[in-house]
Amino acid sequence: MTSTPAIPRHIAIVMDGNGRWAKARHRPRSFGHNAGRKAVREVVEGCLRQGVGALTLFAFSSENWQRPEEEVSALMALFLRALSKEVDELHEQGVRLRFIGDLDAFSDTLQKSMQDAMKRTSDNDRLHLNVAVNYGGRWDITQAARHAARAVERGEMRVEEIGEATLGKWMSLAELPPLDLFVRTGGERRVSNFLLWQLAYAELYFTDTLWPDFDQTCLQQAIADYAGRERRYGRTGDQVARSRNPAC
Ligand code: FPP
Repeated sequence: MTSTPAIPRHIAIVMDGNGRWAKARHRPRSFGHNAGRKAVREVVEGCLRQGVGALTLFAFSSENWQRPEEEVSALMALFLRALSKEVDELHEQGVRLRFIGDLDAFSDTLQKSMQDAMKRTSDNDRLHLNVAVNYGGRWDITQAARHAARAVERGEMRVEEIGEATLGKWMSLAELPPLDLFVRTGGERRVSNFLLWQLAYAELYFTDTLWPDFDQTCLQQAIADYAGRERRYGRTGDQVARSRNPAC
């Protein structure tokens, strides 16, 4: 018996393992990323079915620009293709699509396509699908700190008023439910500069499954594992038990 609701309100995923999946099939890395796109569809479907309110996917980190030019171009082309092919269906399903990260680094065409998709789906609220691109957790904290500094500079707030609550308002995804579950596929056990601030109280789940093989059953397993966790937020296990049943 735990106080954790059975379904996480917000899941974030590091979709790792596309390259190894392709290599095992003697195919280029881009083949793995393409297969990864299908897994994205699976997981979106799974979240819609299970009533998860928000899903945040790490599609391209600020460090991924260092990959071979050929792979970066293939990923950019894949994002464009995905946007032109998937947005209609996502919209029909009531999905609100949002891109987080420093979008200025992308081509005008890609930026426009992202903005159009965000605008088109902005009234949907069945599932908030956030795609992190050119994103880094340290970047996110830095941009929030800059917002705070500017507010101080304009005389709108005092330095003493900068705190977790005020800074938190400027972090990406601030308007969404807090992150409940962080999933990383592909066997590595690290966070890799994803959502550093937002991860503060998230439950972490790591699986060896490579991203292209991650399907709705895998998602269900991650959710079931999460449902069995006891979230204490700094309290003791006894305190948590008493808050569930104050009569004890
Ligand atoms: C990490 O695996 C994966 C990426 C950097 C790209 C993720 C992109 C997709 C899943 C494409 C579809 C996404 C959307 C939103 C349409 P890796 O290449 O590092 O794998 P490896 O560790 O096996 O080399």
